[in-house]
Amino acid sequence: MTMIPPPVEPFRIKMIESIGRTTRREREKLLRAAGFNVFGLPAEKVGIDLLTDSGTSAMSDRQWAGIMMGDESYAGARSFYRFEKAVRDLFGYAFVIPTHQGRAAERILFETILEKNSCVPSNIHFDTTRANIEFRKAKAVDLAGAWAYDPDVDLPFKGNMDVDKLEAFLEKNGRRVPVVMLTVTNNSGGGQPVSMANIERVSAVCRRRKIPFFFDACRFAENAWFIKRREKGYERWSVRDIARKMFSFADGATMSAKKDALVNMGGFVTLNDPDLAVRLKTTLIIGEGFVTYGGLSGRDLEAIAQGLTEVLDESYLEHRTAQVAYLGSLLDEAGVPCIKPAGGHAIYVLADRLLPHLPRDKYPGWALSVALYREAGIRTVEIGGVMFGHKDPKTGRQVFPALELVRLAIPRRVYTASHLKFVAEALAAIARRPERVKGVRIVEEPRFLRHFTARFEEI
Ligand code: F0G
Repeated sequence: MTMIPPPVEPFRIKMIESIGRTTRREREKLLRAAGFNVFGLPAEKVGIDLLTDSGTSAMSDRQWAGIMMGDESYAGARSFYRFEKAVRDLFGYAFVIPTHQGRAAERILFETILEKNSCVPSNIHFDTTRANIEFRKAKAVDLAGAWAYDPDVDLPFKGNMDVDKLEAFLEKNGRRVPVVMLTVTNNSGGGQPVSMANIERVSAVCRRRKIPFFFDACRFAENAWFIKRREKGYERWSVRDIARKMFSFADGATMSAKKDALVNMGGFVTLNDPDLAVRLKTTLIIGEGFVTYGGLSGRDLEAIAQGLTEVLDESYLEHRTAQVAYLGSLLDEAGVPCIKPAGGHAIYVLADRLLPHLPRDKYPGWALSVALYREAGIRTVEIGGVMFGHKDPKTGRQVFPALELVRLAIPRRVYTASHLKFVAEALAAIARRPERVKGVRIVEEPRFLRHFTARFEEI
């Protein structure tokens, strides 16, 4: 990889939040108290927090001004209309239904349209999407191409769905499919974008079979930016026009506003089908709130409306993606193996390659997340054997996912190039003496989603 220079921030800092300092001894104690699980650490004791890019964005002066302007009326608040207009102008669908976050949008959609044994194909479902589908005894089907699972192949649109696989799947199971989804960017596959050509092909297949097509649109702006940069014919398009064209191929979208709407809380479903919209609104009122606030405050709706405009600022997107690529190139130079190419919101370290002395059952990804906190107070998330591993009910043996990853997710507009350099240096120090990192053993785990609360011991 060629060395990418540190990007210049297209903003200046008006308000700051101090980062607490900890000593190595203190971190050692905190790790023990947390059962060697970084989810159990008090955030105040984290130096650089790369656990997620979700809900961790810094809001702008205009968004904070919007917070003061929030109309908190129960029904018909001015803030709702501003939010509705912002979503409608961008996505182009007739109905806009606010929810408190992305998974609530998924829940009201799936609760309404899924039956037992329904199937929902996607490139790769995010885990809450999958859980919302499987909780209703339906099947979440991943149809990304083989390229998505090969960390070394450097392709511009590794998030693409394998359209031949989709055709074959629908040929056999089409009647059981109430919706086809496409996650942009593909978070579970390395934050990789989907091309306009692929979106168009997926759409054509769905339209021919009259199956609704929805986006999981959390990171739509990053996806649109990659189309501008990497897909022939879009170089001169504005990112807004690219996003509008992407959405024009589908019938609706769910969105976690905690990513590309640059806010700390919020989400929505937006769609064209009037009958489905009525049914979704009924589910919304039961669980989330009235149709003009859906579990959010008026001020949140203001901040989302403003965020959806700011996220399409091309100097922002250029910096955002360059920042992630910069971190990727520093790690590459230090010999830290990562998924290629860099994603839109995160770098994914191949932990089993970095720590070859640790077999999968010593959870190298988890061990690396512990080591990074111990070494430098950096928090990351394991996406490997702990998050996705499970016991085979027949053989009783542990089954591990294909990739053993540690994700370094970059919050939007929060960290500068020097923070990222610090992160790269900490990883480089581990890479110089990987054998010092100890494996871990699970000593306590819940039945579901064990990574959040399991406790570990170092071996
Ligand atoms: N879809 C995708 C692709 C996501 O990445 C997420 C959340 C959701 C849906 C759910 O949205 O959190 O607002 O309920 N991803 C976060 C992450 C949690 O860390 O990747 P939510």
